[in-house]
Amino acid sequence: MLEHDVLIIGAGLAGMRAAIAAQANGANTAIISKVHPVRSHSNAAQGGINAALTDRGDDWEDHAYDTVKGSDFLGDQDAIEVMCKSAGRSLIDMEHMGVTFNRDDEGKLGTRAFGGQRKARTFYVGDFTGQALLHVMFEQLIKSGIRSYEEWFVTGLIQEDGQVCGVTALEIRTGQIYAIRAKTVIFATGGLGRTFEPSTNALIVTGDGMALAYNAGARLMDMEMVQYHPTTLQGSGVLISEAARGEGAYLLDKNGDRFMEKYAPNMMELASRDVVSRAEQTEINAGNGVNGCMFLDCRHLGESLIMEKLSQIREIGIDLIGVDMITDPVPIRPGMHYIMGGIKTDIDGLTNVPGVYAAGECACVSVHGGNRLGANSLLDTIVFGERSGNHAALASRDVDYVEFDVDEVVKKEEERLQGILDRPQNGDRVGAIRLDMGQSLNNNLAVYRNQAGMEETLRDMTGFRERYASVPVDNKGSVFNTDLIFSLELGFMLDCAGAVTVSALDRKDSRGAQARTDFPDRDDENWMKHVVVTKGEVGPEISYLPVSITKWTPEERKY
Ligand code: FUM
Repeated sequence: MLEHDVLIIGAGLAGMRAAIAAQANGANTAIISKVHPVRSHSNAAQGGINAALTDRGDDWEDHAYDTVKGSDFLGDQDAIEVMCKSAGRSLIDMEHMGVTFNRDDEGKLGTRAFGGQRKARTFYVGDFTGQALLHVMFEQLIKSGIRSYEEWFVTGLIQEDGQVCGVTALEIRTGQIYAIRAKTVIFATGGLGRTFEPSTNALIVTGDGMALAYNAGARLMDMEMVQYHPTTLQGSGVLISEAARGEGAYLLDKNGDRFMEKYAPNMMELASRDVVSRAEQTEINAGNGVNGCMFLDCRHLGESLIMEKLSQIREIGIDLIGVDMITDPVPIRPGMHYIMGGIKTDIDGLTNVPGVYAAGECACVSVHGGNRLGANSLLDTIVFGERSGNHAALASRDVDYVEFDVDEVVKKEEERLQGILDRPQNGDRVGAIRLDMGQSLNNNLAVYRNQAGMEETLRDMTGFRERYASVPVDNKGSVFNTDLIFSLELGFMLDCAGAVTVSALDRKDSRGAQARTDFPDRDDENWMKHVVVTKGEVGPEISYLPVSITKWTPEERKY
């Protein structure tokens, strides 16, 4: 029998950090992931990781205030305090594990400026910080001897009387279904980026954990808060890191003017992401861009800085659209990048479902509120990954495994999946539904939103669900049946897309990433609260939770 005290789903930074912490606390720990750990989406984080180090004249309270302000005062301040206080130690832990952060001229850890922050507190490795962290964390995972189910796809949670007792999973290489017993489960499955098309996210980012948790009774919170990153590449929507602006790049309109002067005269290109994306979209809508894009101008930074610190995004520009940022401005536009919302947890990652934890982008602790600061997500993964691993390990000491009929569970899951494989051809394709859903969300739940557009997406969703119920899977085989996996992923994405849409329709004000043209103002009197979605008898049900305010009174946001 496969059984573990702590089973972590997802092997990105949050998942591996959680696993290492749980193991260090003596728990029989395992990690399960649909991809090899170093192919996780944490790989794609480019610009850096924030921490306020006192020996640099910085202060965790300044970092916390910038984060609270960046969140448009929707982030829970008690959680933000925990994250910002822990940041220095967590960063140094990573350095001690072996991350080769860039250094400054004195040989100390170097920093760069990032948006929405009054100090340069973003530590970085060129423009591939996530990749550097992920590989070092993977070395630590190997060193720890933690069992890793690589390329296993979790198809469901097993529960008895509301208590989680394990998961069902498909071994992708063989197509065999297993039940894995677990005392506690930590979701670290990342976001839902690919629910939107296009997105900066890897194709694997399909909201699996959020949907599994939601279907098991977990609360999803702040799901309307979808971050559009200001600099995604024309066409594909691939990320062009905020690090470029951190190093001093400009945003220009078609006349070569730095339009951010009109929107954020103090912080200019380094205002918070929601502010910059809205400014760009406003200019694009007014016809001040070219082919639906504005420009990122790095030319004045010079070849040597670009080659030393921004080489990856330079290559992306050359490879994908034939533009070299050393010699030409790069056409960019706002694009879907991140979800601030997710599975509601406390500061130790615990959800309302007994035995279920979440950490990283799939979780909503909530430290990002209405808008995440760039470089706070890597921090979130390692701080709350570690905390959830610690907590789950301790919690699992006091409980026994819950018994269930393994054969029966496996048989049921095999029958469910066989039912999907047996569907007759009907001319529809999983990929077609996925694209239609992504485009509907990108049309109506992007930088600017309104009631009519979101209602259109809600209606579209009904159609997508109907199509999903009978969409065939072409590949009937068992070995590496990615066709079947894409189908299961689409089911997860549809649940997530529904939660995003109903939450955004419910919130009748504009704050952070939710900018409603029909409710253009922030309304603290009625909407200083979190929107929560749970699965009801006939569909998503909405409720609310208060925002935790410790020491920073909400005020108007200006940059
Ligand atoms: O622009 C970036 O490098 C992205 C960083 C982040 O989302 O934290």
